[in-house]
Amino acid sequence: MSMQAWVIGNWKQNPATSNDVSVLLDELLSKMGTQKQTGTTTSNSQCKLMVAPSCIHLSAVSERLASSTILSAAQDISTYSANVGAYTGDCSAQQVADAGATWTILGHSERRQYHKESHDCLLNKLSHAFSENLGVVFCIGETQTQYNEHQTLDIIDAQLSVIKDLLVQQPHLISLLSEKLIIAYEPVWAIGTGKVPTVEEVSKTHQYIKQAIAGFASNVDNITVLYGGSVNASNAGSFAADPMIDGALVGGASLKAESFLAIANAFDQANA
Ligand code: PGA
Repeated sequence: MSMQAWVIGNWKQNPATSNDVSVLLDELLSKMGTQKQTGTTTSNSQCKLMVAPSCIHLSAVSERLASSTILSAAQDISTYSANVGAYTGDCSAQQVADAGATWTILGHSERRQYHKESHDCLLNKLSHAFSENLGVVFCIGETQTQYNEHQTLDIIDAQLSVIKDLLVQQPHLISLLSEKLIIAYEPVWAIGTGKVPTVEEVSKTHQYIKQAIAGFASNVDNITVLYGGSVNASNAGSFAADPMIDGALVGGASLKAESFLAIANAFDQANA
């Protein structure tokens, strides 16, 4: 039996209006309903779905999805406090959980690039997320220059050291890891570019990540590792066919119900 597959939509700073959000949700829910009726999707569907809307839409989206199987996630949480405080512009782990999110994305390359998120910043965010019982989709990956210079695994080691340090500080979290932590491997040069690494490259990197996590937390021998970066309806099947690739973190293609569900179906079929 293969692992639980995950397909997660990162909506980033989209869609523009709450009406557009509502239309996207309508399409997602109605297409999922139709697939169920027509048997287009396998009945013992393995693939879990999650979407991460903008913070401003999080509570409406969570409410709308509460009666569905789709989970909702925040895209980020405050590094400064897990609950309340004088941190203008921030949303805390407690606030996003209260809005209905059960997960948060952390360390996305756009946050690392535009908000200069550091090791210590991410260490705080992870700790806050787990303290509020949120699951974490932790994003890692190398830039084009680092890829060209064959530094991918060194970068991954450096980025995963946040997890390592957290577990040294809070060893009780080790037992939660396989339930509450998902790693998303996203080469920065593949995000939004239409360029993708080969499935073989992704597979080897995922194996490396799984071994690294098992090195910090010996009971976690198979952490969930997703691939992200220009995943679409056409290439999802090739990623889904590799046993090291447990799902996808999808940006652009998650903004259309049809392509998002086509990606989910690719992972369902590979796991059927
Ligand atoms: P993309 O984004 O699918 O548009 O490349 C992926 C991501 O940033 O998570």
